[in-house]
Amino acid sequence: MKISSRFSLGLLVGVLAAAPLITLATAAGASSQTPYQTGAANSGTPNSSMVVKNSSGAVTSYGNGAITYTVPSPALATLGQSLYLENCASCHGVNANGVPADGTSGAFPNLVGLGSATIDFWIESGRMPAANPRSVQADRRTPRLTHDQAVAIAAWINSLDPSYPAIPTPHLAGANVADGAALFALNCAACHTIEGDGDALAQGTYAPSLRNIPAFQVVEAIRTGPGNMPRFTGNLSDYQVRDIVAYVTEYLQHPRNPGGLGLGGLGPVAEGFVGLLIGVGLLALIGYWVGERQ
Ligand code: HEC
Ligand code: HEC
Repeated sequence: MKISSRFSLGLLVGVLAAAPLITLATAAGASSQTPYQTGAANSGTPNSSMVVKNSSGAVTSYGNGAITYTVPSPALATLGQSLYLENCASCHGVNANGVPADGTSGAFPNLVGLGSATIDFWIESGRMPAANPRSVQADRRTPRLTHDQAVAIAAWINSLDPSYPAIPTPHLAGANVADGAALFALNCAACHTIEGDGDALAQGTYAPSLRNIPAFQVVEAIRTGPGNMPRFTGNLSDYQVRDIVAYVTEYLQHPRNPGGLGLGGLGPVAEGFVGLLIGVGLLALIGYWVGERQ
């Protein structure tokens, strides 16, 4: 056997043996289903398949098997107002319209008309009450108010001008993490990086790291678009949001290294590719060695 034919035999064996690895690598990236595209319906609005109303006809919760959105009880509004006056009114004003006591209109964001998910997100992520009212972007911090207090404040602000989305609870059990990975790469990685570590954006702002963010807050961020982040509504269904959230909280935050090697958490695609390189190389060598012996 000539060197060249031995080499091509080796290459052929290598490529054949590597085929399953290529399939593995693409399976992780490709989205096998896109049946969730549902327009404005079923996207954090009460157009969803499940809408629960109380005896006076007010919506109390809505959603579907992927995410339930709960409207804070109006009975909490009185408590919420006093918590608001104590913790928020110095900046956002006693009427929550962004006008503080000195009367400077537009000094702070107007909160009237924001959904309870927005209010809850900014409080429960520790961004509010703001540590530094002059910073370009409020940072995530240890929350100063409890979940119950955040819900009560949201109930009061919602009573001024009822709006959506309400506070989400994702049901991650049926999530498709592979679809979530593909959707994350498409919709989120440009700003947060493919590893979810975050990155600098324009004008001194940044897309934060997505490590250790509770699942419901990932839904809140996607559905409300805090700061410079776009708000994803009709373009992502609740099922797709659930898949993304599962990927962020179950995979990005706790990488399982399915490739068997850590590789700095490059993910199954990169690890599959490394497997391919090593596999082809090794098998080419074996092919060469088999040819040598004939
Ligand atoms: C010290 C001043 C200050 C206090 C107190 C404060 N905020 Fe803010 N708030 C701000 C500033 C400044 C921003 C804009 C920050 C940014 O864009 O990152 C903001 C932004 C927000 C936003 C986002 C608005 C939007 O349109 O995106 C919400 C919601 C909010 N605050 C709610 C609250 C609530 C609720 C409280 C009380 C628990 C509170 N804030 C207390 C200064 C304050
Ligand atoms: C255009 C850039 C951009 C895109 C695209 C984007 N984000 Fe964001 N994201 C941001 C910025 C900026 C913030 C911080 C907002 C702030 O604090 O003012 C943020 C905040 C978040 C937070 C809150 C993190 C924290 O520290 O509390 C989560 C969770 C999040 N994004 C998830 C996502 C997901 C999931 C997607 C894709 C569906 C996505 N983002 C797409 C820019 C982006």
